[in-house]
Amino acid sequence: MSNMNEERVLSVHHWTDTLFSFRTTRDPSFRFRNGEFTMIGLKVGEKPLLRAYSIVSANYEEELEFFSIKVQDGPLTSRLQHLKVGDPIIVSRKATGTLVLDNVTSGRNLYLIGTGTGLAPFLSIIKDPETYERFERVVLVHGCRTVKELAYGDMIAETLPRDELIGELLSEKLIYYPTVTREPFRNSGRVTDLMTSGKLFTDAGIAPIEQAHDRVMLCGSPAMLVDLRVLLDGMGFVEGNHGEPGDFVIEKAFVEK
Ligand code: A2P
Repeated sequence: MSNMNEERVLSVHHWTDTLFSFRTTRDPSFRFRNGEFTMIGLKVGEKPLLRAYSIVSANYEEELEFFSIKVQDGPLTSRLQHLKVGDPIIVSRKATGTLVLDNVTSGRNLYLIGTGTGLAPFLSIIKDPETYERFERVVLVHGCRTVKELAYGDMIAETLPRDELIGELLSEKLIYYPTVTREPFRNSGRVTDLMTSGKLFTDAGIAPIEQAHDRVMLCGSPAMLVDLRVLLDGMGFVEGNHGEPGDFVIEKAFVEK
């Protein structure tokens, strides 16, 4: 397992019955770009059982953080949800992924649109000073079924604006827009509908999205990815990739864990 590090769990936070996050030690030689994912998991018998996880922590932080669903019969998450402080966890030394700033061209507003645990890669991107150098406004949309599932809301709205490194930039440029679909909340409805109706832009106080000016990153529900791709294609947005930055990027690495 020379391409793997063994890290230790430092803390675990259970958001809901189906969502949790945890922090681990970080081998100082492990390098990644904000927005990337790596393979993590546990040894089951003699074999490592690994899945792709976005890295929630920024690449300048000393610890690693991951955000996960709990699937009761999921091969990995049925085990992972019982992690305790001090437990070992395997982390691949190689990080990759399409949701990186290098894969989108510069523009006016950057939309980071995630549903469920699809929020994870954007948590490292909103902590990256380069994000704010490249864009005038950064709009983080998190769509969930219920209010309780809006994990990290306090961190984004309360803690990060006071952060020594990133607080000032983030306060000036980040618009956090959580939205809920299955119970009342101050913002409600699917992100697709909020964009089509224009309510997202009115609520956020920004100009409606346009290919000529704006860039988009998407992560989360496969159905949302399909629908938003159609919407963006229809507006003339061109998908970006490694070596070929574009108007929008999608992370396709995640399947049920
Ligand atoms: P909805 O409750 O209307 O299905 P899930 O938990 O199924 O992954 O969904 C997470 C969030 O993504 C929910 O708020 C869900 O809304 C929303 N969602 C699901 N499918 C789509 C889609 N095709 N377009 C936009 N949002 C979607």
